[in-house]
Amino acid sequence: MKDSFGREISYMRISVTDRCNMRCKYCMPEEGVENLGHDKILSFENIERIVRAAVALGITKYRLTGGEPLARKGIVSLIERLAKIEGVEALAMTTNGTLLEDQAEALKKAGLDRVNISIDSLKYDKYEEITRGGDLDAAFAGVNAALRVGLTPLKLNVVAMAGFNDNEILDFVQLSINHPIDIRFIELMPIGQAGKNNGYRYLSSDEIKMKLPGLIRLDKQDGVADIYKYPEALGSIGFISPMSHQFCGSCNKIRLTAEGKLKPCLHTDEEIDLKEILNMDDDELLKDAIRNAILRKGDKHHLNDGAKPVDRSMSQIGG
Ligand code: 5AD
Ligand code: SF4
Repeated sequence: MKDSFGREISYMRISVTDRCNMRCKYCMPEEGVENLGHDKILSFENIERIVRAAVALGITKYRLTGGEPLARKGIVSLIERLAKIEGVEALAMTTNGTLLEDQAEALKKAGLDRVNISIDSLKYDKYEEITRGGDLDAAFAGVNAALRVGLTPLKLNVVAMAGFNDNEILDFVQLSINHPIDIRFIELMPIGQAGKNNGYRYLSSDEIKMKLPGLIRLDKQDGVADIYKYPEALGSIGFISPMSHQFCGSCNKIRLTAEGKLKPCLHTDEEIDLKEILNMDDDELLKDAIRNAILRKGDKHHLNDGAKPVDRSMSQIGG
C-alpha cells in the first residue's frame, strides 16, 4: 500500500531477537542491553500472523534481523513458516555470519533466499576491536557457507568509519572483484551508541568513491543503495548514504521490533505497539494497525538537523 507521501511500502524488516553474540561498538554498549525476557518477545505464531496481515496490505519482501537473528532458537522453523505464506516473495536475513556455517544449509532448505553479512574489517585485530571480541574466522566461514548453499546474491555490509576501516576500502573492493560478493558501504548513522561519542567517525560515500577511480555507476538501485561496478568484477559495490544523500523519498519499508512494536521510521522514536491487538485475536484489527503505522511514516529524517533517536540501540531495531 502507499503511505501518505505516495511511497509504495512493500518491505518489512523483522527483528526476531534483541540478543547478539557480539557487542559492536557503534551498536551496543559494552555491558550489552538488558535482554527482553521470553515472555516479552513475539512468538513465531504471532510473527506469522503479522506477516500474513502485512502480505494482505501488499508487503511482499521480508528481512529477518536482530540483534543476531541466528541467536534466536528455532529460527529455521520460523523461516519455514514464513516461506510458506503465499505472497511472501522474498525472504532474506541480515546476520553477522558467525553462527551461520552450521545452519546455512537448513536455512536455505527452509526457504531463506539470501543473506547480508555484516563485516566491518578484514583484519583480525580490527574486527575483534569493533565487535568487542568477535571471531573473524567464524564470520568468513559463514560467508563461505552462504556461497556454497546458494544464499545468494550475497551482500557484505560494511559500516564505513574514518580512522577505522577507511584504509581497507580497496581490500573490500578486491573481494567484490574476485568473488560473487556485493559490497555495501553504509554511512555511520548517529543512532543509539553511534549517536553518543564512541570515537568512531562518519565517512561519507563520496569520500570512499574518490578512492575508487574507474568505478562505473550502474543504472539501477538496489533498495536504497546506489550500485557501481568494476568491469569484469564478479560482484558489485553499493553505497547506502542516509546522511549525505537522504534517500527517504525512495523508502519502501517498515520495521517490527522483537517485542512487537512497529516503527514507521528508523530515525524517530515513534512506535505502534501490536501486543494488545495480537491478544484480541482479530486479524482485521492487526491489518488496521499496520496500515496505521504505514500512514504514520514521515516524509524524511532529520538526522542532519541534530535529531538523535537514542531510545533504542541499533541491536534492538536491526538496522
Ligand atoms: N550506522 C550505520 N549502520 C549501522 N548498523 C548498525 N548500527 C549502525 C549505525 N549506527 C548496521 C550493521 C548491520 C546493519 C543491519 O546495520 O552493521 O550491517
Ligand atoms: Fe525511510 Fe525514515 Fe529511513 Fe527516511 S529515515 S529512509 S523515511 S525509514
